[in-house]
Amino acid sequence: MQLVTSIPAWKQVRLGLGGAVGLVPTMGALHAGHVALVRRCRAENDVTVVWIFVNPKQFGPSEDFARYPRDLARDMRLLETEGVDYILSPTVEEVYPEAFQTTVNVEGLTRPLEGAVRPGHFQGVTTIVAKMFCLTQPRRAYFGQKDAQQSLVVQRLVFDLGMLTEVVVCPTVREADGLAMSSRNVYLDAEERAFAPTLYRALQAAERAIAAGERDADALRERMRREFSGRPGVSVDYVSIADVQTLQELATVDRPALLSLAVRVGRTRLIDNIPMTPPGAGR
Ligand code: PAF
Repeated sequence: MQLVTSIPAWKQVRLGLGGAVGLVPTMGALHAGHVALVRRCRAENDVTVVWIFVNPKQFGPSEDFARYPRDLARDMRLLETEGVDYILSPTVEEVYPEAFQTTVNVEGLTRPLEGAVRPGHFQGVTTIVAKMFCLTQPRRAYFGQKDAQQSLVVQRLVFDLGMLTEVVVCPTVREADGLAMSSRNVYLDAEERAFAPTLYRALQAAERAIAAGERDADALRERMRREFSGRPGVSVDYVSIADVQTLQELATVDRPALLSLAVRVGRTRLIDNIPMTPPGAGR
């Protein structure tokens, strides 16, 4: 495994690579969800590249860029045992030199949900994804379903700009109690950690209600919200039942839907989702 931190050096490496290059984009602080992406990538490509870069442009001014967990030595040990070929981990100065003047923007899909609560977030994501795809020219790139909107936005970007990369979306990996794996889970204290699986439980309850015949999306949203009301230190950013492709909110759950939510538990913002097709509503 080779660690490359300089962009000019990486360009030389990339020019010499043959076969299908698979890319796993990450911000480091790797967990079992990332490992699942790496394993799938290795199984499907000739060369596996893991991108590690905590991207300042996708964090808002009051968000957690400064305290986001960083441990490159630990990540490297993990990736070495997983048989990764290259880690590309450039510095902020190299990715965004002073003269940097380009942003990449996807329009409609970035407006609701995460986009409404985190202005500028997706512009930061699409700009860095475009840059890393240019640098690595991947045949396939692996993203997690946990960031459902991000995956849809990246698929849109790739299609709209005619990139040759296939975006592969892999299932969310969960702790035994259902909490979706996330690098941010380390922020949770013991009490918050005990409460955190409530997100998945609320989604599952809504999923079961839909399977049992409930189609009124407002009633389902209300039901999910109730799981979090009256809890000190807990606030809901959104609960959503939206069309799984357009992310437009539904009035009636009559087509494949994305059930999703974002909840602040203490100082930690957690997101989770379940994509589902109501019985009899296959597309
Ligand atoms: O999902 C992430 O970790 C990040 O948003 C990504 C795709 C690596 C871009 O910085």
